[in-house]
Amino acid sequence: MFRKFSLVFSVSLVFLILNSFGQNSKTILNLMPYPEKIIVTEGKFRLDSNFTIGITGKPNARIYSYATGVLQRLDARTIILLKQGYLNASDSSKDASFLIHCDNPGKIELGMDESYSLVVTSDKIKLSSSTDIGALRGMETFLQLVASDAKGYYIPCVEITDKPRFAWRGLLIDVCRHFHTVDMLKRNIDGMAAVKMNVLHLHLSEDQGFRIESKTFPKLHLLGSNGLYYSQEQIKDIIAYAADRGIRVVPEFDMPGHSTSWFVGYPELASGKGPYKIETQFGVFVPTMDPTKKSTYKFLSSFIKEMAVLFPDEYFHIGGDENKGEEWDKNEDIQQFMKKNAIKNNDELQKYFNQNIMKILIRNNKKMMGWDEIFQPGLPKNVMIQSWRGLDNMVSSAKEGYQTILSNGYYIDLSQSASEHYLNDPLPDTVKLNEQQKKLILGGEATMWSELTTDETVDSRIWPRTAAIAERLWSSSSMKDVDNMFSRLDVVSLQLEELGLTHLKNREMMMRRLVGNDSIGVLKNFIDAVTPWKGYKRESKGIGYTTTTPLSRVVDIAVPDEPVARHFNLWVKMYLKSPNDSLKDLINGQLKTWKNNHDKMVVLISKVPSLKEIEKVSENLSALSATGLDCMKYIASKQKPEASWLAKQKTIVDDAKKLLAEVDIAIIPAIQQMLDSLK
Ligand code: ACM
Repeated sequence: MFRKFSLVFSVSLVFLILNSFGQNSKTILNLMPYPEKIIVTEGKFRLDSNFTIGITGKPNARIYSYATGVLQRLDARTIILLKQGYLNASDSSKDASFLIHCDNPGKIELGMDESYSLVVTSDKIKLSSSTDIGALRGMETFLQLVASDAKGYYIPCVEITDKPRFAWRGLLIDVCRHFHTVDMLKRNIDGMAAVKMNVLHLHLSEDQGFRIESKTFPKLHLLGSNGLYYSQEQIKDIIAYAADRGIRVVPEFDMPGHSTSWFVGYPELASGKGPYKIETQFGVFVPTMDPTKKSTYKFLSSFIKEMAVLFPDEYFHIGGDENKGEEWDKNEDIQQFMKKNAIKNNDELQKYFNQNIMKILIRNNKKMMGWDEIFQPGLPKNVMIQSWRGLDNMVSSAKEGYQTILSNGYYIDLSQSASEHYLNDPLPDTVKLNEQQKKLILGGEATMWSELTTDETVDSRIWPRTAAIAERLWSSSSMKDVDNMFSRLDVVSLQLEELGLTHLKNREMMMRRLVGNDSIGVLKNFIDAVTPWKGYKRESKGIGYTTTTPLSRVVDIAVPDEPVARHFNLWVKMYLKSPNDSLKDLINGQLKTWKNNHDKMVVLISKVPSLKEIEKVSENLSALSATGLDCMKYIASKQKPEASWLAKQKTIVDDAKKLLAEVDIAIIPAIQQMLDSLK
């Protein structure tokens, strides 16, 4: 509770300060993704218990349960005790306070019409869309508009017309390196709908696990997993749940590499001799399907047929990444086959494999999709390429006439700041493509690879940063103001909690587990100032991860863009630009907390051995905060420090940058800026 309160407090404080600085003179509402067009007009629509929703037109039935959910979320937030408890097809009164009209039922497919208009006047709210899917998107905008003042809750009067910039706005969830439950998927589907995302990409097979029941080849899930997989009934349930929220589900079965788990039960599919065991380490491994045997395609033909029925989406992802073909090189029969068929190298052999898989997919009315590596000269044009290696690859694919989506720059497993993802545009102004080629760039996907996630921590790796990616893919390319994005993201982050997402609430539970009682304040003060190492450093320089390594350390509780540290950095930036007393007090107060925290941390660590790894980092944070406090004195007195003092502070900053406990101290940039201002 305390954390939530303090976050709300500091968020509103940031707004207040931004406003007082006149940086936010245009009215910016807390909407994310921001609508295409919005006019804020005079007045407020007041919410009370008589508020009702009415639905007219020809919507798909999913709209009634969605609208019922909207009523419940509204009532939970406002406690206005709505008289209308739920909606069904009889709720079509034009007198309803919130009137939704949809021309036609929407179909959950690529290119579905998600546009809507929302007009709020002081006595009526009207949401119109050509499909019910557009209405779902508009209802989320409505919920984000709910505001309050001394008189109660209201919706500001606005005229919004909105539609997505890109048709493919996805989130990949890797359920293989660590399994994620149906509950996790459902709450994240809700989160996706809240920020208008429309594709859940399930990465279902990997070296570390085969995560879906196959009735045709049961040894895939029974021997290829640790017992953690989705039954076909669960998959149907997830797909229906997603469809009810206007979200497609695209399955990925990675082949021919990343496929050890297939071979545990069916070693005859592999190019090596085996036997094979489920992989417990992370990285890129050599086991690869044998693309030269007819029996491989017979197997895959039956398997894909089974999965093609289960997953209704037109797109079917075959992975195709990171196969060097080491097992192919060592296999005499494969080498003979290549010679006989004039296949010159492993890339060509993989192309041969892809062409065979493509025939199977076409027979099953599916479009093939794969990672960059499937892009080979001569690849048929009706294939879609997901670019993970760079924007250049994506642009080349589009130039060659392939549909493509971007994931490079949206790897949310790498603990980068939301600002980096936000500024990563699938179609930047600088890209030289003609109009036809630009249309082939369909959007992008955030990728939640799960080497370092569990059900407990994964939401905090997805949210709130994925909302910034959702905005990049929905809203205008001209939305580039990072501070403004963060101020809205802070609000959205809190709203996402109402959907059951655990990105905020699990932190305190995880802190309590380490500390062993409910006094987590000292640990929390520390975690407020740190973020996990970025990139692949944790995998290469961390404690040595396998699929069973605990993910319950301080680094797993810490999050990218740690809000307290981020607000602190923002305060310092603003203070250095334009000093004032309220900012000075905030900065000094926070620095004193961090400086004094270390002594308490030493006492805590003497009782909690699992925290020993952060002792030196805590000491560095304290020293850095002392530097910050001294800087504030110099800045206030307009005195320049001695060169020797500056040299000593440089050592402190350098120490604070050392790689320890897999966390970085997130306030180093602010302290460095303070020091630079004194030179
Ligand atoms: C990938 O990250 N290997 C697609």
